Amino acid sequence: MKVSRVGVVGLGGIGRVHIAGLRRLGVQVHGYDDIPDARSKANEELGVVVHPDLASLIDAVDVVDVCTPTDTHAAAALAAIRAGRSVICEKPLARTLGEADALIAAADEAGVALHVAHVVRFFPEYAAARAAVAAGRIGQPGVLRLTREGGMPNPNGWYHDVARSAGIIGDVMIHDIDFARWIAGDVVRVYARTLRPAGPYNGATHAYALLTHASGAISHLTASWARTGASFRTSFEFSGSQGMLDYATDQRPLLRTAPPDLAHAGGPMLDEDPWAAELREFLAAIEGGPTPRVTAHDGRAALAIALAALESAETGRAVDLPPAANPFPGSAPSPAEVVSV
Ligand SMILES: NC(=O)c1ccc[n+]([C@@H]2O[C@H](COP(=O)([O-])OP(=O)(O)OC[C@H]3O[C@@H](n4cnc5c(N)ncnc54)[C@H](O)[C@@H]3O)[C@@H](O)[C@H]2O)c1
Repeated sequence: MKVSRVGVVGLGGIGRVHIAGLRRLGVQVHGYDDIPDARSKANEELGVVVHPDLASLIDAVDVVDVCTPTDTHAAAALAAIRAGRSVICEKPLARTLGEADALIAAADEAGVALHVAHVVRFFPEYAAARAAVAAGRIGQPGVLRLTREGGMPNPNGWYHDVARSAGIIGDVMIHDIDFARWIAGDVVRVYARTLRPAGPYNGATHAYALLTHASGAISHLTASWARTGASFRTSFEFSGSQGMLDYATDQRPLLRTAPPDLAHAGGPMLDEDPWAAELREFLAAIEGGPTPRVTAHDGRAALAIALAALESAETGRAVDLPPAANPFPGSAPSPAEVVSV
């Protein structure tokens, strides 16, 4: 099936980024937002074909791209799936595991695709690092460190409601949870701590999590909304039995390796806008191409780990992820795939 019309639901911050990416891919972009002003702006400023309600949008397009607040992903995605449309959904796949399971089951039943937009896998340095690890260039991954830090978001209040956004862990850290799992495989235990500021915000602004992977590797994750007034930054450091990859958005060169030039062994670093790159891969899959590098099952697994981290931060105890809560195998390189250099 050729995809020629994509409908974006939610015309806010990330919806506008998706619209720009979809335009680059040459598809006709339709849109719906439950705020009329957001619809008019998307039509006037971006030339999006806007619709007065969700049903009309779904009717008009081949694929629905859900970019609404996290707690509303499931309802919009289910409406599209039940109408026989393939769906692209922003991360997290849903606010709860029950919703995530319902989405996966509904898509399977309807025979349509369900893709989750974990965009970090499409950032050039992150993709190069994963390719280098998969090629065995650092040997067996042992210790991973990932950080993602910025100021407090301030859009319409919903980020500030943990019941809606899943807070700093479910909204921000989940990017690196997914990436750590892509590098080192499934996670069996999570321990997390958070800091909560005094004031009206009911959640944490800073979070730390320690993930234990089934392979024995450990990941240290830090996510923060406490970097007030400073620029957004991310970083990673992956240490393995035979080498190390080290990246930060505010260091030069961005990606450092030991031994030198190890990352490029994984393939060329393509400098494409990561949002356009993920949308290209999802649309190609819907048109019959290869399975994308991130699946809905990966999105479900990242959500399970994030919710376990939230629970650990609440209780102060580590949370084990039993096989029943983590039923989908990771796509990290298996030991057989890891080649010694
Ligand atoms: N991948 C990334 O890098 C990235 C970045 C930012 C946000 N996100 C994710 O994208 C989602 C949206 O975040 P955002 O920053 O764009 O939020 P936002 O508040 O800027 O925009 C959300 C838009 O959705 C609209 N909306 C709300 N409920 C709706 C409904 N039921 N139907 C239709 N429209 C509705 C709002 O009016 C608003 O215009 C969240 O799940 C967030 O976690 C991902």
